[in-house]
Amino acid sequence: MWVLFSAVSIVTIEKTSCLAGKTEQAAYDVKNISGAEIIMIGERKVAESQVEIARLVRPNHLNSAGRLFGGLLMQWLDEAAGMVAMRHTRSNVITASVDNLRFIHGAYNGEMVVIIGKVTYVGTTSLEVRLDTYVEHIDDGMRHPINRAYFTMVALDENDKPKPVPRLMIETEAEKAEWEAAKKRREMRMKRKEEGF
Ligand SMILES: CC(C)(COP(=O)(O)OP(=O)(O)OC[C@H]1O[C@@H](n2cnc3c(N)ncnc32)[C@H](O)[C@@H]1OP(=O)(O)O)[C@@H](O)C(=O)NCCC(=O)NCCS
Repeated sequence: MWVLFSAVSIVTIEKTSCLAGKTEQAAYDVKNISGAEIIMIGERKVAESQVEIARLVRPNHLNSAGRLFGGLLMQWLDEAAGMVAMRHTRSNVITASVDNLRFIHGAYNGEMVVIIGKVTYVGTTSLEVRLDTYVEHIDDGMRHPINRAYFTMVALDENDKPKPVPRLMIETEAEKAEWEAAKKRREMRMKRKEEGF
């Protein structure tokens, strides 16, 4: 399935043999058909852009209370969200907003912090990235959640203007539930924006 955006209409067509191929190759391709500019956008699976990064908490990462500094974790999260969004869009991205950033537990010197990021929703030019952060215990490999965050990232074209992002291929019930929840979060964000927050 491919989605075509034109200046006058949005048309959805089935993938044909001439369009078939790897989504990576045709993810963002501008064509001129009958004088109208058509932007062809592919679609990607959640798994195609998922990232997992691990960091060891060291003494220079700690705050005065001896825990991982929250601001540093936010930097790591922003980097992870950027990588997910870059993988999905294969383009330059910026962070538009961060919400539901919730610190459940602290992380301490010598602990391994694991961040897993994935796309939950795509709009027209933006996408939502969910980031789950865990402390992984070295002895038994068990992961304990310490944070969950949602980043809204916007894809930019060569003029630094928002540009359409590839669609998201929903494959599982869990991904469908994520999508529905993300739609509600997006509505709340838009409401906050309207109200000037
Ligand atoms: C994000 C930014 C491009 C949005 O600009 P804008 O004039 O509102 O642009 P648009 O109205 O075309 O919105 C672009 C997309 O951003 C989304 N968006 C805009 N403001 C948003 C907000 N506060 N929260 C979440 N998404 C937002 C829009 O919904 C739209 O997504 P969609 O196409 O999927 O619907 C602009 O505010 C910006 O450049 N901000 C600075 C970002 C930055 O520098 N980040 C680095 C951290 S300092």
